[in-house]
Amino acid sequence: MNAFRKLVCRRELSGGSRGRAVVSSRGGHGALSTAMHAHYRAFSTATRRHTVMHAWVIDKYGDNSVLRFTKNASFPIIDYPNEVIVKVHAAGLNPIDINMRGGYGAATLKMKRDPLNIKRTDSEFPLILGRDVSGVIMECGLDVSYFKPGDEVWAAVPPWKQGSLAEFVVLSANEVSHKPKSLSHVEAACMPYVASTAWSVLVNTGGLNKDNCAKKRILILGGSGGVGTFAIQLLKSWGAHVTVTCSQNAEHLVRGIGADDVVDYTARPVEKTLKSLENFDLILDSIGGETESWALSLLKPWCGAKYVTLVTPFLRNTDQLGLADGMMRSGVTIATKALKHLTKGVHYRWGFFAPSGSALDEICELVDAGKIRPVLQEQFAFPRVPRAFQKVEGGHARGKTVVTVARVQGE
Ligand SMILES: NC(=O)c1ccc[n+]([C@@H]2O[C@H](COP(=O)([O-])OP(=O)(O)OC[C@H]3O[C@@H](n4cnc5c(N)ncnc54)[C@H](OP(=O)(O)O)[C@@H]3O)[C@@H](O)[C@H]2O)c1
Repeated sequence: MNAFRKLVCRRELSGGSRGRAVVSSRGGHGALSTAMHAHYRAFSTATRRHTVMHAWVIDKYGDNSVLRFTKNASFPIIDYPNEVIVKVHAAGLNPIDINMRGGYGAATLKMKRDPLNIKRTDSEFPLILGRDVSGVIMECGLDVSYFKPGDEVWAAVPPWKQGSLAEFVVLSANEVSHKPKSLSHVEAACMPYVASTAWSVLVNTGGLNKDNCAKKRILILGGSGGVGTFAIQLLKSWGAHVTVTCSQNAEHLVRGIGADDVVDYTARPVEKTLKSLENFDLILDSIGGETESWALSLLKPWCGAKYVTLVTPFLRNTDQLGLADGMMRSGVTIATKALKHLTKGVHYRWGFFAPSGSALDEICELVDAGKIRPVLQEQFAFPRVPRAFQKVEGGHARGKTVVTVARVQGE
C-alpha cells in the first residue's frame, strides 16, 4: 500500500464512524427527492440529480426467473463521508452470485447489510447482485481525498452491499482502487472479487507474500476457474512453484498463465498422481467436498505447511441453524478440524473473501507490469444478464464472465 493511501485511508476510515444520515433512499420518489438533496449536501461534494437507475434486481430468492430488469432501482446514496459512488462500466459475475440468487448466506448477509437499509424496508429486496465492478468515480463523500470524480477505478463489492449489476454502486473508499491503466473496463471487471479472495487467502490466511514465496511449493485444487487462474499468476509473480489440478482441456490455459505442473483430475484418482509428487508448503482448495479427506496428507509435516479451503459450511450453517447456532457449529467444526490436523503437523484453515482497496492497489501494479493478466471467458451485454447467470451456473469456468453495463462507450 503506498504511503499516501495509508495516510488518506486512515482518515477515510475514521470518517465512516461519524454520524449517519437518517434519510431513506427507498420508498416514493417525490417527497424523497428533497430529503436526498439535503442528505447529499451533508455528506457529499455533489448535488443529487438522479433518483433512479437501471439495474437487474431480485425480489425473492430462486432460480434464474427471479432476475428482473428495472429502470427504477433506487439510486445509491452516500451515507458516510468516506463513501464514493461509482458509475459501473463493467460488472463481473462469480459463483456467489448464483448462490445468493438462491438465498445462500441470507441470514448472515442480512445482519451485515447496512442497518439503516434494513430499518427502512425490513427486507433486503430488491437486491442487486454482481460482485466485480470496473467504472468511474461519479461522486465522493466529503472525507474522500484519495479519489476524485472521473477517476477510473475497480473494486470487489462485498456480498452484504448492493451489487454492480446496475448503473451505479456505492462503496467505501477503502474498498476501491485505481484501475490498472493497461486494462479495459471489461478486462478489469474479471479480477477484483477473485483477486481479493486469493489475496485474503494466500496472504492473510496462508502467510505468503512476495518476499517469502521463492522455492515454495503450492498446490491449487481447481486451477481453471476465476480464483485459480488469478492465484496461479499471483504466486508465479512471487516466484513460487505452482502445481494445479484441472480438467485435461484446461491444461493449455493454466500452463499459459504459468502453472508448472498440471494434473488432470478427470483421468484417474487425482490424489494418486499428487501423492507421487514432492510434498507442498501450501494447498489452496477451491473445490471442497471430499478433497479434505486426502489433500492434507500432501503437505510437508511439521514445517508450518497450511491447507486453506474456500469451500466452507460457514454461511450454510447460519442459513440452516440461525445466526447463533450456525456460528457455534462453525466454530466447533473449524476448531475440531484444526486441532486434529495440528496433531499431524499441518495447519487447517478456512479462507474467505475480504474487500481491500490496498490489496487491489498492489495487484494493479502487478497487472500494469504485465505479470498478471485477466482471463476473460465470455462477455454479455447488460440486457443479457440472465444468460450470463446461466453461463456461470453451467460451471466449467475457464476464467471469468463479465457483463458490460448499458451506455458504455468504446468497449
Ligand atoms: N470462501 C469465500 O469467501 C470464497 C470466495 C470466492 C470463491 N469461493 C468458492 O471457491 C470456489 C471456486 O471459485 P471460482 O470463482 O474459482 O469458481 P469457478 O470460476 O466456477 O471455477 C471453478 C473451476 O473448478 C473446476 N473444477 C470443477 N471440479 C474440479 C475438480 N474436482 N478438480 C479441479 N478442478 C475442478 C471447474 O472446471 P471443470 O468443471 O471444467 O473442471 C472450474 O474451472 C467456488 O466454490 C466458490 O464458491 C469462496
